[in-house]
Amino acid sequence: MSDKKIIAVLGATGAQGGGLVRAIQADPNGGFIARAVTRDVGSDKAKELAALGAEVVAADVDDEESLERAFEGAYGAFCVTFFWAHLSPEKELAQAAAMARAAKAAGLRHVIWSTLEDTRRWVPLDDDRMPTLMEKYKVPHFDAKGEANSYFGEQGVPTTILHTSFYWDNLIHFGMEPQRGEDGRLAFSLPMGDAKLPGMAAEDIGRCAYGIFKAGDQYIGQTVGIAGGHPTGEEMAESLSRSLGEEVAYIAVEPAVYRGLGFPGAEDLGNMFQFMRDFNDDHCGARSVDFSRSLNPALQSFDDWLARTGTSYLDTEKNVPPWLLPDVAVIRRRFPATWPGRSPRNAGDRRGGSLARPAPPTDRHLHSRGRGCSGIPPCCRGERLPTR
Ligand SMILES: NC(=O)c1ccc[n+]([C@@H]2O[C@H](COP(=O)([O-])OP(=O)(O)OC[C@H]3O[C@@H](n4cnc5c(N)ncnc54)[C@H](OP(=O)(O)O)[C@@H]3O)[C@@H](O)[C@H]2O)c1
Repeated sequence: MSDKKIIAVLGATGAQGGGLVRAIQADPNGGFIARAVTRDVGSDKAKELAALGAEVVAADVDDEESLERAFEGAYGAFCVTFFWAHLSPEKELAQAAAMARAAKAAGLRHVIWSTLEDTRRWVPLDDDRMPTLMEKYKVPHFDAKGEANSYFGEQGVPTTILHTSFYWDNLIHFGMEPQRGEDGRLAFSLPMGDAKLPGMAAEDIGRCAYGIFKAGDQYIGQTVGIAGGHPTGEEMAESLSRSLGEEVAYIAVEPAVYRGLGFPGAEDLGNMFQFMRDFNDDHCGARSVDFSRSLNPALQSFDDWLARTGTSYLDTEKNVPPWLLPDVAVIRRRFPATWPGRSPRNAGDRRGGSLARPAPPTDRHLHSRGRGCSGIPPCCRGERLPTR
């Protein structure tokens, strides 16, 4: 029997967990083996992980007994919830609680909890700078994760609280790539003004998590945050221009515009971008690039990621349900004033319906359903105090 330490990885067939399984299995002398947890051990993605030498076991995070079985005999676990699969913060809270109890039952020696800030520490519910959502939240998919941070400590589970960042990969999978306007120009839209966006390659989250496990007890009991870079929207557009060999303009749509797009999750994401913009020092300060590189020397900046990805993000079919997320084409049609080259006067005319309807979306637009999301604090070693 192998004397390697088993790391049970939730979401193993997904972005964060998949990166961790691949990082562990790519280091055969590292002393660890991945136990990939999936609901379907027969899926192609599960088979790919098995081919790397990972154990593959079945469990559902809604089924606590199956979690206990998945954690049994393991040294550690990587725990993550899947907000966009159900859009329910209550479900995330229940799943995190079940993970913490299962980790306790299995006697795990190190859990990494992948989380985000509870933004209510910065923007209390009675603060009307952004609307309260679902009666109890400002940014539901952040707040519930942050609220669940304490669950692991309450169970006495040795835990590292890991704040992740916006995936560069959102340009591939969530339709956040540059879009071509009616004037033929490419534009990249982000509701961040001139603030910095901590982001990273999704694959690097797992690689950083592996660095945390490899460090033994060093980060147990600590809150840490990771990012591959902190570019502004303008800087991201410049990177995209260099990568594509064509000018990409940056459009800083207002978070309120994003909130008003009307798709499920739009208000959550609009509030998220506003939080990241308005508390930018805290949000960036919580995610140290140097610290992340110390965990993962191959850490990718946005430019690195673009160089590796090429232009494939322009052509990849998005995997998000069309109803879930907006795309820049929608913003362009509804809010033409935000599009480069449009004067407010023209925009007003268009809103009044006096001009021809915009051209029907191209195939690319049909495949460009976008969402943004993000992660958390500095290699913060303890969260910061709220600021206004
Ligand atoms: N997008 C961003 O920029 C970003 C940034 C920071 C944080 N986040 C957060 O990241 C989280 C999602 O992580 P991810 O992107 O790694 O997910 P993902 O790529 O969507 O993968 C999720 C995986 O989890 C598994 N899964 C889903 N429901 C499950 C269940 N009930 N029980 C067991 N496994 C289940 C699925 O695997 P099987 O089908 O094989 O079971 C799936 O492959 C979200 O909560 C989001 O808020 C996102």
